[in-house]
Amino acid sequence: MPLTIAIDGPVGAGKSTISDEVARKLGILHLDTGAMYRAFGLCALEHGLDLHDESSVSALCGQDEARVSVRYENGTQQTLLNGRDVSSLIRTQEVGMAASTVSKYREVRRIMVQRQQEMAKEQPMLLDGRDIGTVVLPDATVKIYLTATPEARAQRRMLQLREKGDNTSFEEILKEVNARDYQDMHREVTPLRQAEDAVLVDSSDLTFDETVQAIFSLVEAKQ
Ligand code: DC
Repeated sequence: MPLTIAIDGPVGAGKSTISDEVARKLGILHLDTGAMYRAFGLCALEHGLDLHDESSVSALCGQDEARVSVRYENGTQQTLLNGRDVSSLIRTQEVGMAASTVSKYREVRRIMVQRQQEMAKEQPMLLDGRDIGTVVLPDATVKIYLTATPEARAQRRMLQLREKGDNTSFEEILKEVNARDYQDMHREVTPLRQAEDAVLVDSSDLTFDETVQAIFSLVEAKQ
């Protein structure tokens, strides 16, 4: 079985950027599975569906027009919805919340998990998400649960938004972080939780480089 690295954790823990860097250092591909749920969330929004209507959202997920795929250009993931590159469109708060809602449904998860497992069978990969160590890759070579306090995560998110000229207040961002945590951790189907054999990395007081190094060392120790 090729090398597989599972990184799970709550929103804003820095999973995506940290995973990108760890995968780059290891010379393997990084699959951001949240981007796949986001692309499908965007699709459901564009179809004007009531996201709380499980049967219509689930029915859409199996259709060709809702096909989510990824491709890599120079090692960077591009996320496609029915062949259209939606990598930037999916980065809004609205699409993030939509992804969190549609990802509650069993049929949606079944389809996404199957695609993720197929990709990880083909080549060494690092996957980040909410259920990688528990469901997608229960036999992953290394499992990490990357977290930080809600306040630290909201603070980082605020700085990112400020760079883009978005002045959403800290209180509002913290509220959104807490709402997403609650929804992701309390859904019925495979809620976010730390796998029993995952190593906990708390990045609240670590810099980006320190966090990358901590994870890199764990991977090296396993190899
Ligand atoms: O990591 P992210 O914020 O881009 O993910 C968006 C949503 O997708 C997240 O709130 C929950 C869902 N998700 C999931 O249920 N399982 C995954 N493996 C990845 C994301």
